[in-house]
Amino acid sequence: MSKLWGGRFTKETNKLVEELTASISFDQKLANEDIDGSLAHVQMLGECGIISTEDADKIKEGLQKVKTKLENGELEYSVANEDIHMNVEKFLIDEIGPVGGKLHTGRSRNDQVATDMHLYLKNHTKDIISLVEAVQGAIISQAEKNIETIIPGYTHLQRAQPVSFAHHLMAYFWMLERDKGRLVDSLERVNWLPLGAGALAGTTFPINRERVAELLGFEHVYPNSMDAVSDRDFILEFLSTASILMMHISRLSEELVIWSSQEFQFVELDDSFCTGSSIMPQKKNPDVPELLRAKTGRVYGNLMGLLTVLKGLPLAYNKDMQEDKEGMFDTVETLEGSLQLLAPMIETMFVNVENMAKAVNNDYSNATDIADYLVTKGLPFRDAHEVIGKIVLYAIEQKKFLLDLKMEEYEKFSSLFEEDIYKVLAPAHVMGARNSYGGTSPVQVKEQIELAKKNLG
Ligand code: ARG
Repeated sequence: MSKLWGGRFTKETNKLVEELTASISFDQKLANEDIDGSLAHVQMLGECGIISTEDADKIKEGLQKVKTKLENGELEYSVANEDIHMNVEKFLIDEIGPVGGKLHTGRSRNDQVATDMHLYLKNHTKDIISLVEAVQGAIISQAEKNIETIIPGYTHLQRAQPVSFAHHLMAYFWMLERDKGRLVDSLERVNWLPLGAGALAGTTFPINRERVAELLGFEHVYPNSMDAVSDRDFILEFLSTASILMMHISRLSEELVIWSSQEFQFVELDDSFCTGSSIMPQKKNPDVPELLRAKTGRVYGNLMGLLTVLKGLPLAYNKDMQEDKEGMFDTVETLEGSLQLLAPMIETMFVNVENMAKAVNNDYSNATDIADYLVTKGLPFRDAHEVIGKIVLYAIEQKKFLLDLKMEEYEKFSSLFEEDIYKVLAPAHVMGARNSYGGTSPVQVKEQIELAKKNLG
């Protein structure tokens, strides 16, 4: 089969070279973006008088037909045509004849592929933002049901202080809020049009890049043609934002795995999000959060891969850049898939309020409150800390929790103790007392949820 660039060559391409250099097996995902970019380009060529408007119309019509045929699976991509750009051009020429060859006037595959990638990320970043918002919505709906639900709060995975389960969940809302902010912010850099940069130096034709930007919905035009064809920062930025987002998804997944273990039994994931074991019938495995946790690895890998591809490249386009695609597609698909699962999994999980309460009643996570109690009665915090340290040690030796100690026992440690200590030590009181802004008291958590809802719009 003759190549679109075959003129200078006297020999057939080696088959293995063809396979190595071809990107059609994966860049066919850019078919729609590629055709949209071509439609805008040819419209501009016609308007600027670079080709006749009749030819431009014929090409546009042909491109639409190619688009429909591709959607209907009527056309077959060929490795011999290397990539999506040349496959589409070939389909176009097959459809409308030699006039299709005018489409590539005043552009190069270098500015074309960069444009396709910008268009692709623009669309998918917006999708991902909506999916993040759906997860945030699911978090809010669980949080609203669990404002008064008390769970041990941990540091070092040691019980620290009781917190509202809603408060714990809402921490993830705010992580996702920052992810969303980064995604929205990254669109600012995706919104630049490379097309019109030609191979690297611009073009001899009197093109109108602003017009193409307008037709494709780009806000800016790259002012340097060499930068335009070799910039992949916008993909790196997406991959790094995706890595942080995936890390958050992974941390939440890890919590779900822990919470649904027999040891914790704080939540039970809905049957529809779990799988069984082939030999141990009692098991209900949290495969979904485990896999979401694991998929973080490939997203980090995609970021490291592209950073490494780009680090030694001289200007301008180098074929190395073809390796920018699979990692980007994989990251988009991994994120879209993960977020789509996460929202309903959170929404449908059963929260075992009783087990959480049991856990909180059987620990020393109210110890800080004894110290604070003595401080409000006038003892310096350091001294209070010393007293409570001794009380905790005594209680552990007696195999009792702080609420089980008798008044006489408290009095042995300080004369400042009175009956009200029992009220102060009740988990609900301990939680409610942390009423500083951003704290875990139900009052604060309610306010936080209101703010979150306002942000979500
Ligand atoms: N398939 C190529 C890529 O993805 C398109 C650009 C090819 N440009 C070239 N000068 N060979 O990078």
